Amino acid sequence: MKTSDATSRSLAVFPAGSNGEFNLPPELAMVIERGCGCELWDTEGRRFLDFSMGWGSVLVGHARPEVVEAVTQQAARGSNFSYVTSQSLALAEEIVRLSPACDAVRFCASGTEATAYCLTLARASTGRAKVLKFEGAYHGAHEVGTTSLFPSAEPDYPRPDPTSAGIEQTVRDTVLVAPFNDLELTRQIIEQHRGELAAVIVEPLQRCVPPAAGFLEGLRAITAEHGVLLVFDEVVTGFRLAYGGAQEYYGVVPDLVAYGKALGGGYPIGVFGGRSDVMDLVREDRLGRETYVWTASTLGGNPISTAAARAALKVFGTEGVYPRLHALGNYLRDGMRRVLAERRVTAQVIGDGPLAQMVLSDANVRDYRSSQHADKPLARRLMLGLFRRGIFLNPMGTKLYLSLAHDEAACDELLAVLAEVLDAEAVQAS
Ligand SMILES: Cc1ncc(COP(=O)(O)O)c(C=O)c1O
Repeated sequence: MKTSDATSRSLAVFPAGSNGEFNLPPELAMVIERGCGCELWDTEGRRFLDFSMGWGSVLVGHARPEVVEAVTQQAARGSNFSYVTSQSLALAEEIVRLSPACDAVRFCASGTEATAYCLTLARASTGRAKVLKFEGAYHGAHEVGTTSLFPSAEPDYPRPDPTSAGIEQTVRDTVLVAPFNDLELTRQIIEQHRGELAAVIVEPLQRCVPPAAGFLEGLRAITAEHGVLLVFDEVVTGFRLAYGGAQEYYGVVPDLVAYGKALGGGYPIGVFGGRSDVMDLVREDRLGRETYVWTASTLGGNPISTAAARAALKVFGTEGVYPRLHALGNYLRDGMRRVLAERRVTAQVIGDGPLAQMVLSDANVRDYRSSQHADKPLARRLMLGLFRRGIFLNPMGTKLYLSLAHDEAACDELLAVLAEVLDAEAVQAS
């Protein structure tokens, strides 16, 4: 079948020909056939260099042989039992070992589920209804996760702005929003709502914006002072910034933590875990008690995903992996800065570890609002220009994901294409 057929079929059955949040114009819609390492091919045989990597879930690289082998072996032994298996047990033990926050864990099938469970647990354990999140942070496709993700109205902290329609008023009444990296305002909001606030949820590296010095430590101190649970959404940072994720990288230990993405080696996974007194609320022998929390995920911890995750962890645990990911990230970010500066484009490149984002602005990006001064029409043209020339990325422009399959040559290829796109756009910003 020709791609043009596949693409029109895709446009017929998927809204915008997309499975969610990709925003390609119809003429660029395509259908992927396969991937290997950091490359993928569409049904027409066109090759793309991948800087999305399954939105960061395939940090090991596409079709990584160790992961393929683990999954293949397990597939012949059964794919799901919805109960503890030797695979999920060994994986849980390793996560509890590496994650200081986790005395106990449970598996689910996505990061969205994992953060949702963390918030429910926080509400149940504190008996409080409100949660605070940071503007521009994404915690999955549930209602809290998307609140104030892309607000356009002027900020009126801590009032939330629903990015998605269909959100209940109760959600709007219980979600408080603060600007990332503004510890003072966050402190004031927490103090104003103490007694009602169950949790503060944070992406320790918010999108690609690093935490300011002392910010995470400050959150830890304020939440502890007021009996508010601190939830780290490590769906992106987990196993990516360090083997022990943001907890190890920034040296701050939350009460609850959510993992997903890279852990699964490209297979569906989510993990939520934390202090044993909080995690004990999910024990089924407590069913019927006021604070009992229902958690159940049919495919959570299935042996295929957990076998893939164990293989991925083995790779991540190999000496030199994290220095390499950080060096490659620096190489890419420096290269992008160079290419942009040579063309006198007002821009900065943010991120950490194997993550990079271009912001076409001279503002010091420290939160959502400061990233919004960017030249968005130009950013859109650049993203689509890269895509058109064979760079597979999320054209919504949030971040570029590197993987262990990338190398300097892959980064050089992206940089050459970026230079070509900028020249084609004849960008001569001041
Ligand atoms: C920080 C963060 N949390 C949660 C999620 C949701 O994960 P999933 O898409 O696996 O549900 C994402 C997904 O991009 C994310 O970036």
